[in-house]
Amino acid sequence: MRSFAGRDILSLKDFERQEFFRVFDVAAELEPIAVSRRNSDLLAEKTLVTAFYQPSTRTRLAHEAAMHRLGGHVTGFADAKMTRAGDFYQESIKDTVKMLEFYGDVIVMRHFTQGAPHEAAKWASIPIINGGDGWGEHPTQILTDLYTVLKEKGTIDGLTWLAVGDMRMRTMHSLGYALSQFDCPITFVSPPDMALTDEFKAELKQFSVNFREVEHVEQAIAEADVILVEPVVQPDYTKSRDERAGKDVGLTPANYKITRELLENKAKSDAILLHSLPRMDEVPTDVDITRWSRYWQEAFNGVVIRMALLALVLGAME
Ligand code: CP
Repeated sequence: MRSFAGRDILSLKDFERQEFFRVFDVAAELEPIAVSRRNSDLLAEKTLVTAFYQPSTRTRLAHEAAMHRLGGHVTGFADAKMTRAGDFYQESIKDTVKMLEFYGDVIVMRHFTQGAPHEAAKWASIPIINGGDGWGEHPTQILTDLYTVLKEKGTIDGLTWLAVGDMRMRTMHSLGYALSQFDCPITFVSPPDMALTDEFKAELKQFSVNFREVEHVEQAIAEADVILVEPVVQPDYTKSRDERAGKDVGLTPANYKITRELLENKAKSDAILLHSLPRMDEVPTDVDITRWSRYWQEAFNGVVIRMALLALVLGAME
């Protein structure tokens, strides 16, 4: 297995099966720190730089919380408009990261342009973690989701997945690549204009992912062990900021909605429901206290997985 020390986390396409389990093992080892709400000193000498060109609640703050839990330091920006990358100069990724690499030891970047973190990795001498790039990928989110499945179900292999949402989304890409390393059939449900692209379908076939597409969640929910939902009503991820103010946003059609009634009548009794959040109305709030929901556990695991990734790429858990 390749070492994680000094490595960029850009995509799950290049993750090997045993590397997933290495991350999960380290997460399990570090998890007691987060459970007991302590801060350790594992990364006391290290600084995380957060470079967020797009809004985020979870990804940025989970990385920051993870760094604090490991005793490290954090600096960075959450609004590119307050930097030279977002004003008159439109400073390039290269020029920006050639500065940021002197301000810390690892950079987590979210960007509205697909491939921006990869461009950063070309120039930076420190590891880059992809916090979501346009429609590209969201590897740390899917690592969080798989860790949640492992903890909740005791296995990843052998489980049947249902993924609902916009299949052009970065999380769906990372999910497809990740499942290529596990024995997990998956059914995708999306509006026709948000369906899997031909290019991505070709990749899934190339990676031997066992997948199918159906039109309505009712056609697939009965066999699902893991139900992963993303919004179909959402912003344009290729924009730096997509404001809702003054615009009507549609409601989610029943085809792409997981309601309490649907879970009670059609889902397996022990299925689990994941949602990386934020949500619109695709998972109504009365689902929150059902036995299927696991999104709050997922939120906690998001901190633990980022602790593991930071410790690994910074060489503290070799
Ligand atoms: N799930 C997720 O990526 O959330 P944020 O956009 O708040 O980071």
